[in-house]
Amino acid sequence: MVNSKAQTYEDLLSKASGLYDQKCGDIANMANIAALLKETFNFWWCGFYLVNQNHQLELGPFQGPVACTLINFGKGVCGSAWERRASIVVPDVHQFEGHIACSSASNSEIVVPVFRNNEIIAVLDIDSEHYNTFDETDQLYLEKLVSLFN
Ligand code: SME
Repeated sequence: MVNSKAQTYEDLLSKASGLYDQKCGDIANMANIAALLKETFNFWWCGFYLVNQNHQLELGPFQGPVACTLINFGKGVCGSAWERRASIVVPDVHQFEGHIACSSASNSEIVVPVFRNNEIIAVLDIDSEHYNTFDETDQLYLEKLVSLFN
């Protein structure tokens, strides 16, 4: 039987809520979620950037090749999602003005803000080496996933 993307995400969500540890800080939980995403979908790059005290996004737990460490508010896809307070799905990163190319192998991307008490504390960034990887199903489930941090 072919497992649909939605079903795969349903399974991932139940694993993630089982893994999520209230006794730990965000870093430990983000590390496990990045690992779970990598293990499930084998994404090229997946991980978190956390809002730091200098009002920048700072590289957090991730899986994949080395990445940019600091991203300013409104810059790149990550900084734009932070500014817009909304998820951004990018079918072709080369068409996104201001895209920050941490890796030339990345061709599509999704960024989902992580909210806590109505404030953005981080963004979840996922990059794919293929074009058009992400759609509204990814957005829906990734938003549910990061609501663990609410
Ligand atoms: N491409 C992102 C930067 C982060 S890396 O891809 C891991 C952006 O434009 O925000």
